[in-house]
Amino acid sequence: MKTETDRNRVIIFDTTMRDGEQSPGCSMNLDEKLRVAEVLEEMGVDVIEAGFPIASNGDFEAVREVSRAVKTSQVAGLARAGRKDIDRAWEALKFARNPRIHIFISTSALHMRVKLRMEPEAVHAALVDSISYARNLCEDVEWSPEDGSRTDHDFLCRCVESAIKAGARTINIPDTVGYSVPQEFAELITMLRNRVPNIDKAVLSVHCHNDLGLAVANSLAAVGAGARQVECTINGIGERAGNAAMEEIVMALRVRRDRIPYTTGIKTECITKASRLLSSITGFTVQPNKAIVGVNAFAHESGIHQDGVLKDPSTYEIMTPESVGLSRSALVMGKHSGRHAFRSKLKDLGCELGENALEDAFVRFKDLADKKKQIFDEDIVALVGDNNARGGNERFKLLSLKVTCGTFSPQTAELELEIDGERKATKAQGDGPVDATFSAIHALVPHTAQLKLYQVDAVTEGSDAQAGVTVRLEENGKTVNGQASDTDTVVSSCRAYLHALNKLMVKRQKTAPAALGM
Ligand code: KIV
Ligand code: ZN
Repeated sequence: MKTETDRNRVIIFDTTMRDGEQSPGCSMNLDEKLRVAEVLEEMGVDVIEAGFPIASNGDFEAVREVSRAVKTSQVAGLARAGRKDIDRAWEALKFARNPRIHIFISTSALHMRVKLRMEPEAVHAALVDSISYARNLCEDVEWSPEDGSRTDHDFLCRCVESAIKAGARTINIPDTVGYSVPQEFAELITMLRNRVPNIDKAVLSVHCHNDLGLAVANSLAAVGAGARQVECTINGIGERAGNAAMEEIVMALRVRRDRIPYTTGIKTECITKASRLLSSITGFTVQPNKAIVGVNAFAHESGIHQDGVLKDPSTYEIMTPESVGLSRSALVMGKHSGRHAFRSKLKDLGCELGENALEDAFVRFKDLADKKKQIFDEDIVALVGDNNARGGNERFKLLSLKVTCGTFSPQTAELELEIDGERKATKAQGDGPVDATFSAIHALVPHTAQLKLYQVDAVTEGSDAQAGVTVRLEENGKTVNGQASDTDTVVSSCRAYLHALNKLMVKRQKTAPAALGM
């Protein structure tokens, strides 16, 4: 018999590595996905959707390796409603302790007519066949009617009933295009619970996109109406405007238990760490005022607010920073700080590192402390992100860079790189110091990848602030992001470019030999 606690428990299904990764420029390599999976598992995520195995070899490998690595969370892989997709998904998932095949097919009239060019009867037959087939391989099958929120109710009810009869344990209703509004979405869930006779044999799940900024509100409304699984992503990354943000859903459930009395198994203290890891991997920093994880989420600027918070934080804070893994650390870091203080600061900031990475980061912290008067928490977060970005097996390393720039032109860059262990140098001109530096990189590492994004953010205030740089390169439809931070913007740009190139090399080795024309 289900206890009250079971009935009120919401399963958190994270799709950062599948739907999240589908957002332009958010691609992650295998090592990065494994790092994200590790943090998701530590957070207590119930189901980790690690990819869409038939979509690419990279996705297949990621699902297989995450399946091997993860011990407590379930691992899901996505498949279309066809046997080939399902076989491929199972090939990757069979290593998981607790695997789940997630099958989807569109059910809205628009998608069936325009996208699938299939009659509703054929869609119905495909979903029944694919779910039955998958159930012979894997005990746990989830089914999603894509564009579910715009599907005719009679057809949706018929499909859901058949999907459960065929063996689906979870029925996930996607608001694929983020069109729904909360009351309407809650009514859809209520309608399914009232009309589908075998609905109690499956867990009802929701998957909301954020095109109208309502993904979290729609998900919570659905939970209120009886959904017990929510699909979401860290920082809300995902197709177009993104998916429902996990941190917002989980904290809304924690903070407003009085009104939304449902629980999750998420250790909310891991939220900041997960958010920062993802930002440092993808180069997608969250907006400063983003709920829960934005840098301003717990900042108080106005005098009245500051005064209130000093008297009692609850005057202007509805949750404690500690509850999301931030700490009101009073530890001021500088060049005299030792390893112990550094380690403790990292912990306060939600950035834990392994021993080797910590040592590396500490050396870089000391370098930074020599250059900068004040080391802010943001500097340390950037430094750790930078550290995460360096894989260790880099083919291209920066040895030295000297740039001449000013009101005259052209600007020049003298660059020295270590390429596969060999020292190479060149001098190049450009339209500005960054352009000259990138031209020098091109001269030493000829390649056809296109620069798709060059972004510079000041990590903190002050003219000695570090510049956090993101470089995105694209080659044959595949993108990689490189990041670096340094007090010198041009050095940071150079290192971010090299980081992207190093990642591109790994990607190309996996897809085709002799990638860069060197
Ligand atoms: O948005 C969507 O409909 C999806 C499905 C594959 C669940 O991502
Ligand atoms: Zn989606």
